Amino acid sequence: MIAETNPEKMYQAMKAKLANVVPDFELKIKAELAAEINRLKAEKNAVILGHNYMEAALFNSVPDFVGDSLELARKAAQTDKDIIVFCGVRFMAETAKILNPGKTVLLPSEKAGCSLAASITAEDVRELKRRFPGVPVVTYVNTYADVKAESDICCTSGNAQAVVESLNTETVIFIPDEYLAKNVAKETGKHIIFPTMDPRKKFEGELDYQMIGWLGRCEVHDKFTVEDIENVRKQFPDVTILAHPECSPEVVAASDFSGSTGAMIRFVENSSAPHYLLLTECAMGDNIAAANPDKDMLRLCSVRCPHMNQITLEDTLESLRKNQYVIEIPEDILQRAARSVERMIAIG
Ligand code: 13P
Ligand code: SF4
Repeated sequence: MIAETNPEKMYQAMKAKLANVVPDFELKIKAELAAEINRLKAEKNAVILGHNYMEAALFNSVPDFVGDSLELARKAAQTDKDIIVFCGVRFMAETAKILNPGKTVLLPSEKAGCSLAASITAEDVRELKRRFPGVPVVTYVNTYADVKAESDICCTSGNAQAVVESLNTETVIFIPDEYLAKNVAKETGKHIIFPTMDPRKKFEGELDYQMIGWLGRCEVHDKFTVEDIENVRKQFPDVTILAHPECSPEVVAASDFSGSTGAMIRFVENSSAPHYLLLTECAMGDNIAAANPDKDMLRLCSVRCPHMNQITLEDTLESLRKNQYVIEIPEDILQRAARSVERMIAIG
């Protein structure tokens, strides 16, 4: 975070961090916005949380804390500020609200959704529970509060395996990301089925499965292919490739490392490969390049997250000025969702 409220000093501080990734004329405009955001943040006793996918000018200026979904959920649980401005997508802001029911949580854009969160409803989960009674439901945090409310425990890409193993049960329902579920099934040695592939098929009588998945996908990570990896390796034989676990198991297997956005950042920081390629939202490559000017980050930027990219410094300033967009969750849903989020946080 840069704590400046003076636009010129803010510009100089941002330039020192971002001269190699953001053009100078844009930095001047962004610095003015960032300085005003900092002034309002102090006036309103707000905290700003920024996901690792935020564009470089935002990520490197106003957030008090940056991180992956799990790290930001933990920060949200600890804050004593009155207002939380979540520079991320709706499900993340909802998680912050679930952990802080008495505080105002703001999401700077109403359009910041997520294809995974949109892939499943609370009624879908109730139907799965009817079909597989007594089987605990592990729900990826990339879901809305009403889906979390139907679940036993949440997980993120940073702790999915640990959460599944913490349950100590033979079988789990793991929703809604098909690829994350397949990747976790591989790591934990569980055989996974997808009842929605053939709704007429009666899996209930079969004994040879330990995971029940759903067919949701991230519209960004779904696009990366093994062919992309082969092409990049042909051009850069000594590249190190990192894939988010929302990528297909084939892409993860063809990569050198897989982990949450936070784990990917730490991997790059702690290694010294000649080139890196991140198979995830492209803005994160800029953020790593800004913090590590000595590292050569290759980018595949034709695939962008349209939701994360909604959040800009302009919207963040409007959010603080107008107190928008306030996250509201009905009380009964909030209380039930809190149990599954808090159970996840307690795992550590
Ligand atoms: P992380 O939890 O790894 O930050 O991922 C969130 C996300 O939405 C990835 O697409
Ligand atoms: Fe959702 Fe994918 Fe965007 Fe992450 S990158 S917020 S999973 S659509």
